Amino acid sequence: MKSHEVVPAPEDTSYLAYIASALIVAVAGGFLLAVVLPLAETGMFWADRVPHLIQAHGWAQLQGWAGLFVAGMAMRLIPRFAGCQPIPERVTVPVLVLLVSSVVVRTIAAPFIFGTTGEVLVVAAALLGAAGTLAVSATLLRTLSRGRRKQEPWRYFAFAGATWWAVWAVFILSAGLKSVSNDRYVPYNLDDALTWIVILGPIGNFVMGVQSRSVPVFFGRKTPPMRRALPPGIALNLGAALIALSLAPFSSELSFRLEGAGLLLGGIALAWLAPLAGSGWGKASRLRPRARSASRYVLGANLATIAGGACLVWAGAHTTWSGAFEAYGFRDAARHAFGLGMMTMLIFGMAQLVAPMFALERAEARPAALHDRLPFWLLIAAIILRMTAGLLAGHVDINARMHTAALAGTLGWLAIILFAATVSRAIRNQPRMKAILYGQAKPKQ
Ligand code: HEM
Repeated sequence: MKSHEVVPAPEDTSYLAYIASALIVAVAGGFLLAVVLPLAETGMFWADRVPHLIQAHGWAQLQGWAGLFVAGMAMRLIPRFAGCQPIPERVTVPVLVLLVSSVVVRTIAAPFIFGTTGEVLVVAAALLGAAGTLAVSATLLRTLSRGRRKQEPWRYFAFAGATWWAVWAVFILSAGLKSVSNDRYVPYNLDDALTWIVILGPIGNFVMGVQSRSVPVFFGRKTPPMRRALPPGIALNLGAALIALSLAPFSSELSFRLEGAGLLLGGIALAWLAPLAGSGWGKASRLRPRARSASRYVLGANLATIAGGACLVWAGAHTTWSGAFEAYGFRDAARHAFGLGMMTMLIFGMAQLVAPMFALERAEARPAALHDRLPFWLLIAAIILRMTAGLLAGHVDINARMHTAALAGTLGWLAIILFAATVSRAIRNQPRMKAILYGQAKPKQ
C-alpha cells in the first residue's frame, strides 16, 4: 500500500528505453555478427561480403551497443551528478529514435542492400546518426554548463566526452558520404581512425568519468583527486586528437607516426585510468553481499582494460617507430579487450551497481545465483579467446583464428542474452520494488 505522505518524484524512465535498444541491437546485430562474421571469414558463406560485414559488426557494436548504452546512462547520470533537472523525455526520446534508426539502417544496408537503394539508405543512416550524436553532445554540454562547477574529475571527463560526441557526429557524416562512392564501404583508414577515436574519446572519457565518481568508493578508497586524474585524462584526449589529425593530408609515413603516437598515448591513458578511476583489484567492502558479485564485473572490466592498454602501447610504439601500419594482431586484441571488457563487462557491472531498476536486487539478502554469475564467466572466456584470436594473427592459419573468434562470439552472445534476461526481470520487478520502498516509508500507527 502506498503511503499518503510520500509523493514519488516523477521518474525519468527513458534510460530504460536506451538500455533495451542497446540490448536488442547487441543480441540481433553486433554480437550475432560476432558469430556470423568470423565464420564468413573462413569462407564458409558470404565470403564476398566480409569487408562490409566487418564494418557492420564494428558499427553495430560501437554506435549501437556501447554508444546507445553510454548515451542513455550519460543523459540520466550527468544531470544528477551536476545537480540539474533531469533531461526531459521530449529530448531523450527523439534522440533515441535518431540513434537507433541510424544504426539499424546502416547495419542492414551496408552489407546486404545493393545499388542505389543501398546508397540512399547509407546516406540516410549517416544523416540520422550525425543528428542524433550531435544532439547527445549538445544536450550533455548544456547540462554541464548549467550544473555545479566543482573541481571533480568526472566533470572534465564528461565535458571532454560530450565534445567528442560532436566530433563523432562529423565522422559519422563524413564516413557515410565517403562510403557512397565506394560501394557502401568506408575507406579503411577513415574507418580505422574512427574506431579508435570513438573508443578513446566519447566512450573512454565517459567510462572513466562515471567510474571515477563511484567505483573507488565501492572498493573502500577515495575518489581520485584532480591532480592525479589530469595527466592520464590529458593523454587520453591528446591520443584521440592525434589519431584524428593523422587523417589530414600528410605523407603516409607522417600519418602513421601520428596515428601510432595517438594509439600509444591512448593505451597508456586507459591502462593508467583503469586502476585509478576504476579498480582492478580489492574487495567491494562498502557494498551489500548481493551487490558484491556485480562488483566482480567492474574488476574484470578494468583488468581487461589494462591488458588492452598494454596491447595498444605495443601497436602504437611499433607504428610510430616504423611509420607504417604495424601490429595488426595487437590492435585487434586491444579493440576487443576494450569492446568486451571496458565496455560490455563494465556495462553489466555498472548497470547492476548503479541503475535504479536493480535497486531491489542489490538490497536482497540472497547471494548471487548461478544465472547471475554465468555471464561473468562467459565474458571472461570470450575475452581470452577473442584476444588470443587477434594475437595469433600471422602465427596460425586464419581458419583456426576465426573458429576461435566464432567460439568467443557464441559465448559473448550467450552472455548478452542472459544479461538481457536479468534486465527484463529487474524491469518486471520494479512495481514490487516501489511497493516495498513506499511501504517502508509508511507512517507508524
Ligand atoms: C566475442 C565477441 C566478438 C567477436 C567474436 C568479434 C569478432 C570480430 C571480428 C572477426 C572482427 C574482424 C577482424 C578482422 O578480420 O579484421 C571484428 C572487428 C571489430 N570488432 Fe569485434 N568481435 C566481438 C566483440 C566486439 C565488441 C564487444 C566490440 C565493441 C564494443 C567489437 C568491435 C569491433 C570493431 C570496432 C571491429 C573493427 C571493425 C572495422 O574494422 O570496421 N567487437 N570483430
